[in-house]
Amino acid sequence: MSRKIIITIDGWSSCGKSTLAKQMAKKLGYVYIDSGAMYRAITLFFLRNHVDWTDTQAVKAALKQINLSFEFNEKSQQSEMVLNDENVEYVIRDLIIAEKVSEVSSIAEVRKFAVKQQQEMGRKKGIVMDGRDIGTTVFPSAELKIFMTADIAVRVERRFKEMFDKNPNVTIEEVKNNLEMRDYIDSNREVSPLRKAADAILLDNTNLTMQEQLDFALKLAKSKKVEPNPMQDV
Ligand code: DC
Repeated sequence: MSRKIIITIDGWSSCGKSTLAKQMAKKLGYVYIDSGAMYRAITLFFLRNHVDWTDTQAVKAALKQINLSFEFNEKSQQSEMVLNDENVEYVIRDLIIAEKVSEVSSIAEVRKFAVKQQQEMGRKKGIVMDGRDIGTTVFPSAELKIFMTADIAVRVERRFKEMFDKNPNVTIEEVKNNLEMRDYIDSNREVSPLRKAADAILLDNTNLTMQEQLDFALKLAKSKKVEPNPMQDV
C-alpha cells in the first residue's frame, strides 16, 4: 500500500490541471477532487435561482440550500459533480457558467462554504485536488504542491478545441477573453487569490506532452515516497 498524502495542483485557467490531477489519481490509486466544479455548481445554482450575489444575506440564504457532492460514473470512470441530487457535471462546463464563476468564487462566504467541504474531503488524505488556492489556503501543509502554468496562446487553443467539440458556435475570441478575465479576477481577488505557494513546484507545460508532464509529476510523488499502483495503467 502506497503512502497516503495530499497532492495539490493549482494554476491558471486551462493549463491542464484537471487532466494531470485525474491521471495522477488513477496511477496512485488516489481520489481526484475538482474544486473548480464546486464553484461552478454554486454559480449554476445562483444563476438558476436569480440570486443577487452582491447581497451578502441573499448569498448566505442561498448557500443554505446548496448540497454539493461527487458521484463516481462507472461509464466515464470519473467522479462527477452533483448539486442537490442532480448530476450537473456537463452543464457546469458551459461558457455561461465560465463567464460568472470567477465573480461568484471571489465572494468570501462562497469561499468559506467550499473550503470547509474541501478540507473535510481531505481528512483521510490520499487525494489529488486541483484549483486555485488548494496549496495556499485549503491545504497549506500538503506534502506535495504543484503549480501549473503554460503560455496563454497554448491555453486558449487547448480550451477552444475542448469547447468547440461541444459547441461549434464558440469563437476563439470568446475563449481568449474569458480566460484572460478569469486569470485577472482569480489572481486579484481579496480572499485567497491565485498564488504559487512558496513550497509549490512550478510546472510549465507549454512544450510538454501529457506523458512528459505525468512523468514529471509522478517523479515528484516518488520523491515523497508515493509509488504508483503497479496494477494501474493510464
Ligand atoms: O478549475 P475551473 O476552471 O473549473 O475553475 C472555475 C473557476 O472557479 C475559476 O475561474 C476560479 C474558481 N476557483 C477558485 O476560485 N478556487 C478554486 N480552488 C477552484 C476554482
